Formats: sequence, C-alpha cells, structure tokens
Amino acid sequence: MASDKISRVGVIGAGQMGAGIAEVCARAHTDVLVYESTRELAAAGRSRILRSLDRGVSSGKLTEREREQASWRLRFTSDLGDFADRQMVCEAVVEDEAVKTAIFKELDKVVTDPTAVLASNTSSIPIMKLGMATENANRVVGMHFFNPVPVLPLVELITTLMTSADVTARAEQFAADVLGKQVVRSTDRSGFVVNALLVPYLLSAIRMVESGFATVEDIDKAMVLGCAHPMGPLKLTDLVGLDTVKAIADKMYEEFKEPLYSPPPLLLRMVEAGRLGKKAGHGFYPYADAAAAAR
Ligand code: 3HC
Repeated sequence: MASDKISRVGVIGAGQMGAGIAEVCARAHTDVLVYESTRELAAAGRSRILRSLDRGVSSGKLTEREREQASWRLRFTSDLGDFADRQMVCEAVVEDEAVKTAIFKELDKVVTDPTAVLASNTSSIPIMKLGMATENANRVVGMHFFNPVPVLPLVELITTLMTSADVTARAEQFAADVLGKQVVRSTDRSGFVVNALLVPYLLSAIRMVESGFATVEDIDKAMVLGCAHPMGPLKLTDLVGLDTVKAIADKMYEEFKEPLYSPPPLLLRMVEAGRLGKKAGHGFYPYADAAAAAR
C-alpha cells in the first residue's frame, strides 16, 4: 500500500458541496486545487469558502491565523490538466451522470499516481458507472459528504466490485485521520445509506404539502419539535436544493423502480419554476439574502 500521507488534494466543482469539501481539506492542512469551469464560478466558489471560514472564526472554531492559512492553501484552476500531481481528487459537480462520467474519463488520463484516490461525492449515481468510464476502476470510490460539510461529521465511503483494497484504505484514512470525519461504509446502491432513508422522507413531506395534509410550516415544526430534528424536511429540501433532491430521486427510481422514490409533481413544478431552495433565494420558504450570498 502507498504509505505517503495524502497532502495534495483536488476538488472538482465549487458549488455548495465542492466548496465545503475544499474548505475542510484546506482546514486539514492539505494543499487544495479547486476546478471550476469559468473564472466567475471560481470567484463565487472562493467567496463562498471565505464566508464560511469567516463564520468559523465568528463561532470560535477557527483563529484568524488558521483562517488565513486555510485560505492560502486554496488555489483555483479551469484546467483539469493541472490535477496531474494530485493524490486524491474529489468530484462534486452537478448530479448528472453524463457530466460526471466525462470528468472521470478525463481525470483518469491526467492524474499520474496509480495509487491516487479518484472519489465522487455523488449522492445517487452508482460508483461503478464512474469507475467504468476510466481505464483504472480500481482507484475510483464514492466519498459522500453532507451539507453543510464543515459542520456535519459523516462521510459515506462507497466501494465498487473494482475498487482496490489500497485505494479504499487510503480514502478511509484520509476521511477519518486527515479530515477528522466519521466514516460509514455502504455498498454501491443508488442513494447509499443516508439518501435511501432520507429521500423518501423528503418526498413524503412534499406529497403532504401537495395534498393539503398540513402546511409547510406545520410539517417542519412537527418534525423539529416532535422528533428533535435540527430542521424540518421542507427546510432541509431547501438547503439541499430542490433540483438536487429531484436528481437523486430520479436516479433512485431508475435503480429500484419503487414508487416512494418517484419525485412528486409539486417538486417537478417547483424545479421548473426555478424555485430551487436556499441557493436560489426561493423554495418552500423565501430567502431574502441567500441568492446574493450564493454568488
Ligand atoms: N459553515 C461553517 N459553519 C457552519 C455552517 C457553514 N456553512 N453552517 C452552520 N455552521 C455552524 C455555525 O457556526 C454554528 O456553530 P456554533 O454552534 O459553534 O455556533 C453551528 O454550525 C450551528 O449553526 P447555526 O447556529 O447557524 O444554525 P443551526 O443551529 O440552525 O444549524 C444546521 C444549522 C447546521 C444547518 C442544522 O440545522 C443542521 O444540521 N441541519 C440538518 C442538515 C442536514 O441534515 N444535512 C444533511 C443533508 S443531506 C446531504 O447533504 C446529502 C446530499 O446527498 C443530499
């Protein structure tokens, strides 16, 4: 097994999840190279991370110096070719199989270290499909983080029939020892552990709104006060993003053909209307400043 500790990380995508992953890697003292397709998206990703680091300082989790040092460890590029020397790459782009497989195909050609870990943060696309887009499926795993990444301590580690034991061990060691996350293992089934349980719950809450069973506010209040959840299912759907919830549900439905994974019409209509949740400034709730903050 390769013994060198992972210190050069790449993150593909600087949206909500990619920015969070890049932030925790930089806070864990690794050198982080972040890919975004345009300078504008890279600038938005950088400011998203800097705001979150500021939040870490204001809540006493980081010192000013740690924030500065973390920000120096972050570099941005629009050229995947710059990832040649990375020991670990985590892909966190949109939940779209074609986009992700194209990235894995390219990454596999670029990253030279045969023991490098090529990870996807996908929520629902079987990792095998990403592995088989490469010539080296042995180095492809799923590393699924949770939003907000700096706050939630879990990583789901998903291996395929092709992932090597060395790559699995390196990925687990990185998540646990370098990032300080708790790791659970999942087999390569769409949705893995968390979303297989969470998504039917979110969709059920949307169906409740759709049928007039209860109001958005009361459904959320019921689960916060009745079950001690930190937020209700509709607010959580807004946080995850309605387009993302729909994309995950579609993939899970494709895999299992279970009606409980099928996205309800209200979700489809809201996605069509651009009411994508907190990042768009409007979902089940309005967010006066969120759309501006997300840019
Ligand atoms: N970056 C850094 N720190 C953050 C943060 C962020 N983006 N968001 C919140 N925090 C910190 C705050 O600084 C605060 O720290 P403190 O307690 O030391 O002061 C702490 O987290 C709590 O935040 P707030 O006080 O601002 O707000 P809340 O207490 O309401 O918590 C929440 C906000 C952390 C989002 C909480 O409501 C929560 O955990 N909600 C559930 C989120 C969840 O279930 N996520 C999983 C989604 S599923 C997923 O991601 C998988 C995908 O595939 C769908």
